[in-house]
Amino acid sequence: MRRKLAAGNWKMNGTGAALNELEALRTACPAPSVDILICPPATLLDRATRVVAGSGIAIGGQDCHAATSGAHTGDLSADMLLDAGASTVILGHSERREDHAEQNEDIRAKARAAMDAGLKAIICVGESLEQREAANTLDIIGGQMSGSIPDQSTGENLIVAYEPIWAIGTGKVPTLDEIGEVHDFIRARLERRFGEGVGRSVRLLYGGSVKPGNAADIFAVSNVDGALVGGASLKAADFAGIIDALQEA
Ligand code: 13P
Repeated sequence: MRRKLAAGNWKMNGTGAALNELEALRTACPAPSVDILICPPATLLDRATRVVAGSGIAIGGQDCHAATSGAHTGDLSADMLLDAGASTVILGHSERREDHAEQNEDIRAKARAAMDAGLKAIICVGESLEQREAANTLDIIGGQMSGSIPDQSTGENLIVAYEPIWAIGTGKVPTLDEIGEVHDFIRARLERRFGEGVGRSVRLLYGGSVKPGNAADIFAVSNVDGALVGGASLKAADFAGIIDALQEA
C-alpha cells in the first residue's frame, strides 16, 4: 500500500514572513493521514524545520549538487540539505532542466548523491506542449525515466512526479485520461525495470496547476498517489484544501 503524499514546491518564493503560512498549515493539519512535504527555498530550510518539528509535515530541498563537497560556489550538497532538516529533495524539475540546462545524466548523478546521503528523491519528468502535440509524450517520459532514475532506486527513496511543462503555472491541466495514461505508463516502466515489488511501491505524483477545486478528480485517477504543487502550496488554506482532498481520496 503506497502512502499518499502532498508535496509543496515553493520555488523561488518566500522570506521569513512566509513561515506564517507554514505555521498555519501545521495548525490546519494537526493529525494528517497522508504524508505532507514542503520544499521552501534553501534559505528557509533550517527555520522551516523548526516550525514543523513534531508535526506530520516534512521539509525538503528543491535541488542538490551531485558531489558531496568541494569547490562549487553557490551549490548545496545532499548532506547539507539533510543537515538542515530535509528528508527529501526535488530533482530534475523542468524549470531546472530549462534554466540550468540540466540533462538526464546530471539529474541521475544528483539522485545518486541524494539517495546515498539518505534523502528521498522526487524526480520530475514531463513533456512540452510541442512534444505532446507531436504525440511524443510517452517517448519523452520513457527517455527521461531511463536517463534520470538511478539503479539504486527503491519504493522508499524514489518518488516520480509527472509534470507536463505546459500545465505548470498556466491553469491548464491535462484531461484525467491523459494523466492516467502517463501514470500507468510510468508504473509499467518502473515495474519492468525494477521488478513488480519495487515498481509498485514507488509513489507517483501529478504536478501542474493542482488546486483545491480540481484535486479530488485528479486523485481519483489510477496510479496518482498525490501531487507536487507549486502556486497553491504558498497559501496554507489552498494547500490544506488539496491535502483534505487527498485524505478523502
Ligand atoms: P503549479 O502548481 O504552480 O502549476 O506548479 C507546479 C510545479 O511546478 C510544482 O513543482
